[in-house]
Amino acid sequence: MSSRIANGTRVVNGEGRGGGDFGEGTCILVTGGAGFIGSIVTLELLVKGLQVVVVDNCSNSYIAKGAEKPESLIRVEKLANGKTGKKKEVTFYLMDILEKDKLLTIFQEHNFFCVMHLAGLKSVGESVKYPLKYYEVNMGIATNLLRCMDQTGVTNFVFASSSTVYGPVPCEQLPITEEQPTGNCTCAYGRTKYFIEEMLKDCCRANPAAYDIVYGPVPCEQLPITEEQPTGNCTCAYGRTKYFIEEMLKDCCRANPVSRV
Ligand SMILES: NC(=O)c1ccc[n+]([C@@H]2O[C@H](COP(=O)([O-])OP(=O)(O)OC[C@H]3O[C@@H](n4cnc5c(N)ncnc54)[C@H](O)[C@@H]3O)[C@@H](O)[C@H]2O)c1
Repeated sequence: MSSRIANGTRVVNGEGRGGGDFGEGTCILVTGGAGFIGSIVTLELLVKGLQVVVVDNCSNSYIAKGAEKPESLIRVEKLANGKTGKKKEVTFYLMDILEKDKLLTIFQEHNFFCVMHLAGLKSVGESVKYPLKYYEVNMGIATNLLRCMDQTGVTNFVFASSSTVYGPVPCEQLPITEEQPTGNCTCAYGRTKYFIEEMLKDCCRANPAAYDIVYGPVPCEQLPITEEQPTGNCTCAYGRTKYFIEEMLKDCCRANPVSRV
């Protein structure tokens, strides 16, 4: 089953470890849980009686020197205690998700039912200036998470995407619906979100027993191909990696038009 739970947020469900149970005590990994949306998600999960593990490097959230947890999560725990009348605690790891070996240790220590992936860089303007930073972090952490999930048998994944995957949408076409095509992005940030959505679809296609397919491949029958032919209509992960790299190179050229890649 797949659905959008909010504008730009895709949910991919599979028959993962823990089966279909989302009951009290279920353990959820929230990446970027110290951030703006992540802290609210963490609060909601705690109040519902779920166990929450947060991984965050606090690059965009505040942790006091020597403190065990970021300020936002200390407040989240207080609010959850107040709302439930029970002692609620978040397990917190101050860690960069780019460090895959450390991340895998966390997956091995906990029996995650689901990963809610909210960590990442999110500034449109910054991504235009520093595209490689966005590709390295956003693509790198998503890939590391999916690898760790694969290695430990976790298959439920909620991804905070972005409405930038749709690109500019004319006013008369608002509000954006599920049917609106994605990929018409105008910045590197949007493209990282779009590419991660495509990566998720490839994972679903490769392992339909564990994940459900989000969309089928679109065949490309038009030949011969000219330079003007649109790219991106790929039918396999290999083709998509090549297309993504082409787009990344274009972003680098746009950010630094003096140097040609
Ligand atoms: N805020 C919005 O309006 C909005 C809209 C659409 C999509 N999103 C997406 O939702 C997600 C959360 O957004 P937000 O507004 O809460 O952002 P945020 O910056 O407040 O939270 C992101 C968290 O991720 C952490 N982080 C960044 N890189 C990391 C890394 N390499 N390893 C570990 N932690 C890392 C940051 O420290 C931060 O706490 C983002 O992925 C964003 O792209 C946000």
